[in-house]
Amino acid sequence: MTKNDRANFGSKLGVILASAGSAVGLGNIWRFPYETGNHGGAAFIFIYLGCVLLLGLPIMVAEFLIGRRSRANTAGAFEKLAPGTQWRWVGRMGVLAGFLILSYYSVVAGWTLEYIIEAATNSFSGKTPDEFISSFQAFSSNPWRPILWLTLFLLGTHFIIVKGVEKGIEKYSKIMMPVLFIIILILVVCSVTLPGAEQGIEFLLKPDFSKVDGNVFLSAMGQAFFSLSLGMGCLCTYASYFSKDTNLTKTAFSVGIIDTLVAILAGFIIFPAAFSVGIQPDAGPSLIFITLPNVFQQAFSGVPVLAYLFSVMFYVLLAVAALTSTISMHEVVTAYLHEEFKFTRKRAAQIVTGGCIVLGIFCSLSLGVMKNVTVFGLGMFNLLDFVTAKIMLPLGGLFISIFTGWYMNKKIVWSEITNDGTLRVPVYKLIIFILKYIAPIAISCIFINELGVIKL
Ligand code: PHE
Repeated sequence: MTKNDRANFGSKLGVILASAGSAVGLGNIWRFPYETGNHGGAAFIFIYLGCVLLLGLPIMVAEFLIGRRSRANTAGAFEKLAPGTQWRWVGRMGVLAGFLILSYYSVVAGWTLEYIIEAATNSFSGKTPDEFISSFQAFSSNPWRPILWLTLFLLGTHFIIVKGVEKGIEKYSKIMMPVLFIIILILVVCSVTLPGAEQGIEFLLKPDFSKVDGNVFLSAMGQAFFSLSLGMGCLCTYASYFSKDTNLTKTAFSVGIIDTLVAILAGFIIFPAAFSVGIQPDAGPSLIFITLPNVFQQAFSGVPVLAYLFSVMFYVLLAVAALTSTISMHEVVTAYLHEEFKFTRKRAAQIVTGGCIVLGIFCSLSLGVMKNVTVFGLGMFNLLDFVTAKIMLPLGGLFISIFTGWYMNKKIVWSEITNDGTLRVPVYKLIIFILKYIAPIAISCIFINELGVIKL
């Protein structure tokens, strides 16, 4: 494909919504609340915000500029900007990370479909907390049902991907993102008006810095990374479809604000409700799937219709958020196969979908019948999560910041960020400083910490 016939996003809003759709996902609604719960609430959020602003946004600008400058898939981008060098491995690692994340992410995304059906058929009603726990455990370890759902979820993603960039990704993001916001807002209002919700609100707003240690700080940085879809060239691939007058810095800001807002609003849905019915905020990754149906049930015990609506809406919201993220991961790998190996777009997408279904099946089974098959003590699901989120993404981000901060021609970086000098970007120098010094050092710290070499 030549530079000129490469597809583009049709509008500015489409650019922002598609990128925000990638960023907003299970990371915001499922992972953010449980990390916040595990790390003491407001203080964690405070540090998280600092990480998004200081590290996430500049690296997002870096990914954007690499993608738009090269107008290629992630691996091709490094090849174009640094021909014949080893930098292409950064892109390839990103593609691989995308494929691996998509495989296990789809398992959790599939669970959201099961929960939509459970909520819609009213099977939450009348269950005790213990029953919610055992039914989740029975479901997630069942050899068939989760596989069915993950396959369906990947086929849904596939369907949107083969429709192409503008007709597929952009059109669906334009519909889904606003719907997502509306549902979130309704749920926040419901949650904060529950009796006893104040304690949850306080948990989210009153920082207790005595609980902050190095680990909290580094966890917050890791979460920022995952949530903003950084480090694997996802936003880089999307930026290859940006037009040449897209303002990269402004887009990064908008995406960062939307992503952060959704995460915090998710906190405002979950914690007030959890405190209201006496559920511990540090319930961990199972928080949404085990605790929330129970929360909805008890919170609206007098009004079963509300319990019903509240729970259906929540899981629909989660599925929508996950879908716009799986689309973005799928696109990274599809664009790579399509452009580097000359497969048709459709065939490339089929390979990705097929491969992820197979790997996803192993991930799902690793939580049930294949529990005992482990590598380094981890089942397939946990292994992929560990290798991608804790190794590949930080490593990718580290290299991306070094690439733009040190390797790339300064003039090219300048002309991409300022659109050939037509934009005034007051934070330009700050972005470069962060990419050169702060980001590489900070990410190295996360990386080292997550590998357990240094425990701060
Ligand atoms: N940011 C997405 C989420 O919050 C996950 C994701 C990670 C998507 C990496 C693409 C790339 O759920």
